[in-house]
Amino acid sequence: MIKRIAVIGAGTMGHGIAQMTALAGYATCLTDANAKALPAALERVQTNLAGGVSRGKIAKEAADAALERLETVDTPAEAVQEADLVIEAIVENLDVKQQLFRLISANVPDTAVLASNTSSLSIAAIASGATKPERVVGMHFFNPVHIMKLLEVVRHDGTDDATVDTAVAVGIAMGKEPIVVRDRPGFASSRLGIAIGLEAMRMVEEEVALPEAIDKAMKLGYGHPMGPLELSDLVGLDVRLSIAEYLHKELEAPHFEPPQILREMVERGDLGKKSGKGFYEWPKTKSS
Ligand code: NAI
Repeated sequence: MIKRIAVIGAGTMGHGIAQMTALAGYATCLTDANAKALPAALERVQTNLAGGVSRGKIAKEAADAALERLETVDTPAEAVQEADLVIEAIVENLDVKQQLFRLISANVPDTAVLASNTSSLSIAAIASGATKPERVVGMHFFNPVHIMKLLEVVRHDGTDDATVDTAVAVGIAMGKEPIVVRDRPGFASSRLGIAIGLEAMRMVEEEVALPEAIDKAMKLGYGHPMGPLELSDLVGLDVRLSIAEYLHKELEAPHFEPPQILREMVERGDLGKKSGKGFYEWPKTKSS
C-alpha cells in the first residue's frame, strides 16, 4: 500500500510529478541537489494548481489539500526515509542516476519501490545501482506532467510483477493512462515518435512535400494533434539528433540513421523553436 512518495529532482518533470502525486492523495516529499530549485518548484506547483482551479478543473479544496501534502526537504537521504515509492527525476546521466540509486537503497525502507523517469536510459542499468533491482521500474511521464495523460511503465527483465502493479496503480491514481513496456532502447513512445520524425525529415530532404504539407498529412489524415516536424522543432532538433544517434547505435536499424538534413540544421544552429528557426520560423505564423 503506497502512502508516502519521495520525488527526487525538482526541475521540469519533478515538480509536475510531485504536484500530481500530492493531488492524488499521497504524502509527497520533494527534494533536489540544488536548494534553489525547491522554492521555484513549489511556486510552479502553486501556479499550475491555481490555473486548474480557475479553469474549473480542480476544486479549490483539493488544490489546497495537495499543497498541504507536499513538503520539501534538503537531501535525498532524508526524503526517502519513510517512502513507499521513490520517483527519480534528476539529470539524464547514467553514472549520476546509479549513484543516487545506491544512496536511496541505503536509506529507504526495504519494501519500497524505486522508479526512474528516465526518457532514454536503460532501466536495468539504473537498477544495477540498487540493492534490490527487482523493485526498480521505469515510470516515464510526459511534459507537462499535469496535462499529458501517458505513463510508460518500463519493466526490465528482473523487475517483479508486484513492482509493475504498484507503478501502474499509482499512475492510475494520478489520472494517467499507463502502458507497460519492456526495457528496450526508446521504450515504445520515443522509438515510434523518432521513427516518424526522421522519416518526415527524409521526405523534406527528398522534396516530397513542404514541411507544412507533411505535418498536415499526419494531423488531418491520421488525427495527430501535431505534425512530426513541428513537434521536432518544439522538442529541439539537437535533442532529436542525439536520441536518433542513440537508437541507431543500440537498435542497429538503418531507419534510425539521422538524415543529413537534421545533421546540417543542428550544425548551423537551427535547433527549432528555441533558436527561432527549424523546419519552421518561430514564433510560428498562423498559416504555417
Ligand atoms: P531538469 O534539468 O529540469 O531537472 C533536473 C533536476 O534534478 C534539477 O533541478 C537538478 O538540480 C536536479 N538534480 C541533478 N542531479 C541531482 C542529484 N544527484 N540529486 C538530486 N537532484 C539532482 O530535468 P528534467 O527535464 O526535469 O528531466 C529529469 C528527468 O526526466 C531526466 O531523466 C529526463 O530524461 C526525464 N524526462 C524529461 C522530459 C522532458 O520533457 N523534460 C520528459 C520525460 C522524461
